[in-house]
Amino acid sequence: MADIRFDGQVAIVTGAGGGLGRQYALELARRGAKVVVNDLGGAVDGSGGSSEAAAKVVAEITAAGGVALANGASVTDDAGVARMVKDAMDAWGRIDILIANAGILRDKSFSKMEIADFQFVIDVHLMGTAKCAKAVWEIMKAQNYGRIVGVTSPTGLYGNFGQANYGAAKAGIVGLMHTLKIEGAKNNIHINVISPVAATRMTENLISPEIAKRMGPEEIAPGVVFLCSEEAPTGTILTAGGGAFAVARLHETEGAFLGAQPSPESVRDHWAAITDTAGEAAYAGGGEQMSKFFRKMGGG
Ligand code: NAI
Repeated sequence: MADIRFDGQVAIVTGAGGGLGRQYALELARRGAKVVVNDLGGAVDGSGGSSEAAAKVVAEITAAGGVALANGASVTDDAGVARMVKDAMDAWGRIDILIANAGILRDKSFSKMEIADFQFVIDVHLMGTAKCAKAVWEIMKAQNYGRIVGVTSPTGLYGNFGQANYGAAKAGIVGLMHTLKIEGAKNNIHINVISPVAATRMTENLISPEIAKRMGPEEIAPGVVFLCSEEAPTGTILTAGGGAFAVARLHETEGAFLGAQPSPESVRDHWAAITDTAGEAAYAGGGEQMSKFFRKMGGG
């Protein structure tokens, strides 16, 4: 099969001044995409900011013969996001790919977490992804083509001590994907999420230097590049780390019909049947799950 190429396509990668985003931007540009390299240039906790980080990655892309534009907007800033999209349209006239990768951490146990830090993490990850997706949505619809990659995390899928804010935000991005995959389908807009595990400044206290050498962003980028391609699936949670890739899915048990107006005791007494994994299924949309209940009410 032919190599994956992005000639004639335009991509926006948020949070691309370092870490994983930088790698995604470099790889898309190397394969022919014109890339908007967005980064606020702040610290891991989201404080500070400078447009230098994005400019440095643009210089790298240009030096390698690629085409890129730097953008220093925060993904939380409506006007900044609108300008970023307008700059891309003014320069290149279309937007084929969005990788909503910008992110921060404000870790603390839930007991000690200030609600302002909960809100801020939701604003950057979930609202930042929604704002960027919304800003390119009509453009992609008019083009009848778009590829959007959101970023979730092991915490968003499974939880982690000290990351209630981050986990909620990252799970929210999965929820956003599940509906956008349905709404984007008829205009050939595919949306997927990546759940990476990689050695970056965000994980430097979690991954030992020895292992870090084998868990760089370049081990994740091939999966993300595939999700940006014409052959990309839609509605997939791709998990990745150290060169390994897998897919995560929500499954639901077949469950049990307890009759009309069941009692709490009946739920308790049928817990084994409710949780029985035989016949477990992953649903393509909420409607598919709902129809199970209609079927069960009818005795099916
Ligand atoms: P990183 O800290 O190197 O990259 C995040 C980038 O986003 C930074 O360059 C930062 O300046 C930028 N950024 C932060 N707030 C921004 C805003 N409001 N507007 C624009 N840019 C902003 O960390 P890393 O690891 O590369 O993270 C990339 C994404 O991958 C994040 O969404 C993160 O949550 C996610 N992730 C990373 C994992 C890992 O193992 N490294 C694990 C799971 C998820």
